[in-house]
Amino acid sequence: MNQPFTTTQSLSATKPFEKVLVLNATGKVGRQVCRALREAGFEVFGTTRSTSNTLARQGVKAVVCNYTLRADLDQAFAKTGAKKVFVITDFFAAAKKSVDLEFAQGCAAIDAAKAAGVDHLIFMSVADAEFFDEHVTHLKAKVALEKYLKQSGVPFSILRPCAFFENLDDAANFNPLKKGVVKFLSTQDCKYCATYDIGRAAAIQLTHPQQWLGKTLDVVGWQGDLSQVAAALSKVTGAPVKAKLAMPIFLRRLFMKDLHHMFLYYEVQKGPRGTPQDFKKVLPDALSAEDWFRFHGQYANGEKIVPLAPAH
Ligand SMILES: NC(=O)c1ccc[n+]([C@@H]2O[C@H](COP(=O)([O-])OP(=O)(O)OC[C@H]3O[C@@H](n4cnc5c(N)ncnc54)[C@H](OP(=O)(O)O)[C@@H]3O)[C@@H](O)[C@H]2O)c1
Repeated sequence: MNQPFTTTQSLSATKPFEKVLVLNATGKVGRQVCRALREAGFEVFGTTRSTSNTLARQGVKAVVCNYTLRADLDQAFAKTGAKKVFVITDFFAAAKKSVDLEFAQGCAAIDAAKAAGVDHLIFMSVADAEFFDEHVTHLKAKVALEKYLKQSGVPFSILRPCAFFENLDDAANFNPLKKGVVKFLSTQDCKYCATYDIGRAAAIQLTHPQQWLGKTLDVVGWQGDLSQVAAALSKVTGAPVKAKLAMPIFLRRLFMKDLHHMFLYYEVQKGPRGTPQDFKKVLPDALSAEDWFRFHGQYANGEKIVPLAPAH
């Protein structure tokens, strides 16, 4: 792993060793949220269905739990005693592309938190979720869950991230990061954030509840088009990098209608509205594209992005 960045490390001085439970701790977001919360001084528990305990290597206390099931969640709160929780829901995998199921899974997490007497729940939603058109099905449950949470009586904050930098190295979705090229579903100007910065923002919200309870924060770390993303990787590696569409736009429109319309919101309507300038008022060292490539540190095949200097 690469060097952590600095902003949240100093938080540990203010509230040491408070317990926080991170749901879906082994996912792209969960892993980095756990890391950032640990660096900020929290005692971090993470849910996973697996007993292989890969979380322990990260210093996270694994709680065997299917985060979509109410009974498992009740047990996880009881076992850990955590009064703070980071809630993730997922339309594509855990909710099997059902808006109703994702909504039910999110409600179960909010209800379990309420029953456990949680004093701060952070819900990860999506920036501008309510402004995407009717074809963008995968964001609909987020809007409904924000509303449910606000009416639940559970003390909350909401984080609304834009596109993850992690999409630039996503082998599971046929986009592994390879030497000399970056690919994405759009070449146009886009707003990005690092999942690590979602975790750092969560650490700030949990550490300053008086400032953040009841509030929403857009997580937008950097803005640029794909040629600027390629230039950032080129700067980090010292080698040329090409910017390419991951698939032609007509195929995106034909086979990925939901995501196609999501990108149209970025490309045509220039959304989401949040800006890196605003987010940096909260997290001044939010990761840029260049920072993220250094932080990520490797290509999909495990090769280092910045080769180690030869020993003398
Ligand atoms: N990609 C983006 O640019 C972007 C931007 C903004 C917001 N988001 C949001 O990010 C969220 C996705 O988060 P993520 O990428 O961290 O998720 P993820 O990486 O897809 O999460 C994978 C984890 O989900 C668990 N899981 C998979 N199938 C499951 C099932 N059937 N039942 C229970 N658990 C299951 C597994 O954990 P275990 O096997 O350990 O249990 C697995 O490690 C979505 O809500 C999306 O809307 C994404």
